[in-house]
Amino acid sequence: MAAADTKILSIGGTGFIGKFIVEASLKAGHPTYLLIRESSLSDPARSPIIQKFKTMGANIVFGDLYDHKSLVDAIKKVDVVISTVGHVLLAEQYRIIAAIKEAGNVKRFFPSEFGNDVDRTHAVDPAKSTYQVKVNVRRAIEAEGIPHTIVSCNFFASYFLSTLSQPGVTTPPRDKVVILGDGNPKCVFNKEDDIGTYTIRAVSDPRTLNKILYIRPPANTLSFNDLVSLWEKKIGKTLERVYVPEDQVLKQIKESPVPNSVMLAISHAVYVKGDQTNFEIEQSFGVEASSLYPDVKYTTVDELLDQFV
Ligand SMILES: NC(=O)c1ccc[n+]([C@@H]2O[C@H](COP(=O)([O-])OP(=O)(O)OC[C@H]3O[C@@H](n4cnc5c(N)ncnc54)[C@H](OP(=O)(O)O)[C@@H]3O)[C@@H](O)[C@H]2O)c1
Repeated sequence: MAAADTKILSIGGTGFIGKFIVEASLKAGHPTYLLIRESSLSDPARSPIIQKFKTMGANIVFGDLYDHKSLVDAIKKVDVVISTVGHVLLAEQYRIIAAIKEAGNVKRFFPSEFGNDVDRTHAVDPAKSTYQVKVNVRRAIEAEGIPHTIVSCNFFASYFLSTLSQPGVTTPPRDKVVILGDGNPKCVFNKEDDIGTYTIRAVSDPRTLNKILYIRPPANTLSFNDLVSLWEKKIGKTLERVYVPEDQVLKQIKESPVPNSVMLAISHAVYVKGDQTNFEIEQSFGVEASSLYPDVKYTTVDELLDQFV
């Protein structure tokens, strides 16, 4: 079977990261199925996305995570299931696992991960508890013996790079930047289209079977200090750097309401603890996407920042 013959079902394909994965799947020529709730068809925010994918050749299958039969029927049509359900549904993915077991035909399952490696995190609460939900899903998949790939794509660029992770802004700051910790741990930002491309490359690749696919391209892996220097060079201006020591970051996390505390705790894990790069990717558990697929011309952080100059 040629790689592009692999049939893919997307659950959560109208969501933020799901859209990029569905688009990459369609562009690569995979027969692509989207599990859509009937109610979403008439949702003005969702229907243009669904129409666009239909035009690109996607097959729409009506169903719901809470409707077991609809899940099994949809899963029976495909080889690979990619879940990109959002935060609130992460713990409900046992329903997909049960449907995959019943259908019995799935060659690969990608659970909704697309972030930091939750088995190697130093996050504190409330991020820690959210990550634990993803850990539990991993263990359930392993216990059921379902072939899988975990995509650890680190930071979505449009969430974390376009703001230099400053709260309440939409473009990188030009006067002052707040840096959590000493700004030295390396972090990773990836354009969402590239996350889609790498994910789809992995669907039938034996090298990614039962492995974590880390998206850690060298040009997108840099310390916060270097990131600020790069931005300063582009705008020809020096920013005031305000460093927040770890004990103060931890205090802020405790004192902030949700969701600010969640964002702060994620930032603490990445910028202070270095969670995206403080371990080597070992062959026993993982592979790195840009080394595996060197022909993919990913967008670099340098290029991504150009749009804001
Ligand atoms: N690395 C990062 O920087 C980063 C940032 C944010 C999120 N993430 C991760 O990315 C993953 C996806 O998050 P997201 O923010 O992209 O998700 P999202 O935008 O919230 O998308 C949720 C999707 O789930 C679908 N859905 C909701 N209820 C459903 C149901 N009952 N049955 C079937 N489908 C249902 C939605 O469909 P409708 O369109 O019909 O509502 C939508 O397509 C998560 O694991 C999250 O932790 C990573």
